[in-house]
Amino acid sequence: MRVRFIELELENFTEHRRLKVDFGRIARLSGRNGVGKTSIGTAPVWVLWGTDLNGKKWSPKPTTYEADVTRAALLLDVDGKPIKLERGIDGGDNVFKVNDVPVKAREFDNTVTGLFDRDEFLSLYNPRYFFTLHWTKQRELILRRVVPPAKSEVFKHLPEPQAAKLDKLTRKHSMADLEKIHRDRKNRLEKELIAAESRRKTLQEQLTTMDSAPKVDPKTAQADIAKIDTEISKIQSSIAEADENNQRIARLNWDISSLLDKRNRMKEQYEQLKQRKPGSNCPTCGQTLQGYALEKAERDYNATIEAFRAEYDQVVADRKAAESELAGLTFIDVSEKVAELRRWQEAKQAILDAAREKERRQQLEQDVEKARAAEASTKESLNESIFIIDAIKEYRAKEAELQAEKVQGLFRRLKIKLHNRLKNGELEDTFVIQMDGKDYVQLSFGEGMEAGLELSEVLFGQSELITPVFVDHIGEYTGPIAVYDQLITAGAVRDQELKIEKEEWAD
Ligand SMILES: Nc1ncnc2c1ncn2[C@@H]1O[C@H](COP(=O)(O)OP(=O)(O)OP(=O)(O)O)[C@@H](O)[C@H]1O
Ligand SMILES: [Mg+2]
Repeated sequence: MRVRFIELELENFTEHRRLKVDFGRIARLSGRNGVGKTSIGTAPVWVLWGTDLNGKKWSPKPTTYEADVTRAALLLDVDGKPIKLERGIDGGDNVFKVNDVPVKAREFDNTVTGLFDRDEFLSLYNPRYFFTLHWTKQRELILRRVVPPAKSEVFKHLPEPQAAKLDKLTRKHSMADLEKIHRDRKNRLEKELIAAESRRKTLQEQLTTMDSAPKVDPKTAQADIAKIDTEISKIQSSIAEADENNQRIARLNWDISSLLDKRNRMKEQYEQLKQRKPGSNCPTCGQTLQGYALEKAERDYNATIEAFRAEYDQVVADRKAAESELAGLTFIDVSEKVAELRRWQEAKQAILDAAREKERRQQLEQDVEKARAAEASTKESLNESIFIIDAIKEYRAKEAELQAEKVQGLFRRLKIKLHNRLKNGELEDTFVIQMDGKDYVQLSFGEGMEAGLELSEVLFGQSELITPVFVDHIGEYTGPIAVYDQLITAGAVRDQELKIEKEEWAD
C-alpha cells in the first residue's frame, strides 16, 4: 500500500490561522524558529490519530489567540484513490469528516484503522518514532516481516542425531507441542526413576540381609527326603510293634492282678459257702427239713459248690495262662527310637526349610532383576526426553542465531541484538540497537537521526506500506537521506517567514 499526502488544510492550528499545503514529491519547509514547520509535519498525524509525531495525545488548539474552531483536513492518496480525512475541535468536542461527510468518532477511527497500522505508519513517517516504542514493540515491528529460517535450514546447522530426531518427531507435532510433551514426560519420569531406584535398593537390601544362599540342590533334596521318609516309617512301625508288645504286657499284668484279687475273694466266699451246708432246718424259714426236702437241699448245695469250684479253677487257670504268656514277653524300651524319630524329622524339616529359603531367595533375585530392568527402561525414556528437550533448545538457539543473522543482514551501521542467552542455555527475547557500539540514548542528535533513517530504510525494505517521510530539523543532520517516495523536510532559517518549496512528481 502506498500512501501519499496530497494537500493539507489548517485552520486555527497552533500558530497557523489559515494555511493550505500542497506537498508534491518533496516539500521543504523552512523559516525561523516557531514559524510552524513542525506543526505542519505533525498535522497529518493529528488528523489521523489525534496525537503528535510520537503518538502522544496532543492538541493543536491555539493558546495565544481566540478561535472558534480548530480544524485540519488531509487529502490522502491511498493506492491511487483519494480520501479526505478531517479532524476538528469545535468548542470542547472533536468533530470528524470523511470525504467531507460528518461522521462519528468511532466511524472515523474505523476508517483510519482500516487503512494502515499506526505504529507501522509512524515508524516510517517519523524516523525518531521507533525509538519511543517499548522494546517489545520495536522487536515485533522489525521481526513482523522477517521470515523465520526454515526448519530444514536450521536442521542443517544441528548435530545430525539431533536434527534426525527432531525432523522425525516434528512431522507429528509442532516444535512447541513436542517440547511440552517431553517436559511433562521428563518431570514424570524423574519421579518414576526415583521410585524405581528406591524399589530396586530395597529389594537388594532384603537380599543382602538374607542368609547367603543355602546349599540345597532340589534333586538331591528330594532323594534325601525320600530316604528320610523310609527311615521314619521303619522307626514308626517298629515303635508301633513295641507299643503293641508293651500294651500286651500291661494288659496281662492287669489281668493277673485282677484274677488274683478274684481268686482271693472267692476263697473267702468259699469259706462262707461251706457254712451254709444244709442241716435239719431250712435256712430261710427255720422249719425242720425232712425226707425229700432235705435231699433236695443237699443236692442244690452240692451243685452250687461244684459250680463255684469250677469257676475258681477257671480263674486260677486263666491267671496261670496269663502268667505263662507274660513270662514269654519282654518290655521293649522305645525312648531311643522316639529320639531317633525326632532327629530324622528335624533333619527333614531342615531340608524343607532350606529349600523354601532358596525358593524365596530366587524369587527375590528375580524381583531385583525386574526392578533393575524397570529402572533401566525408565532411565532410558528419561534420557530420550532430555535428549529431545536439549535438541529443541539447540534448535531454538540455532534458529535464533540464523534469524539474528538474517535481521542483521538488513542493516548497515546498526547492530541489532534479538536474544540474551541465559545461564541455563535458554534464550530470552531482548531488543537492543547500537550504532558504532553506542546505545541509541548515547547518540548525538544527528547520529540519532541517522540511526532512525537507517531503521526506516529497513522498515521500508520489508514493509508492504509506503508512507511519506518527515525529516524535521534537517539543518542539524549531515548524513544521507534516501528518498523512498514522498519526503517532507523542515529546517530553521534565521529571520525567515515560513517558506514551502515543493518538487513536483516526475510524471
Ligand atoms: N497547542 C498549541 N497552541 C498554540 N500554539 C502552539 C501549540 N503548540 C505549539 N504551539 C506554538 O506554535 C508555534 C509553532 O511551533 P512549531 O513547533 O511548529 O515551530 P517550528 O517552526 O517547528 O519551530 P522550530 O524551528 O523551533 O522547530 C510555536 O510558537 C509553538 O509554541
Ligand atoms: Mg520545529
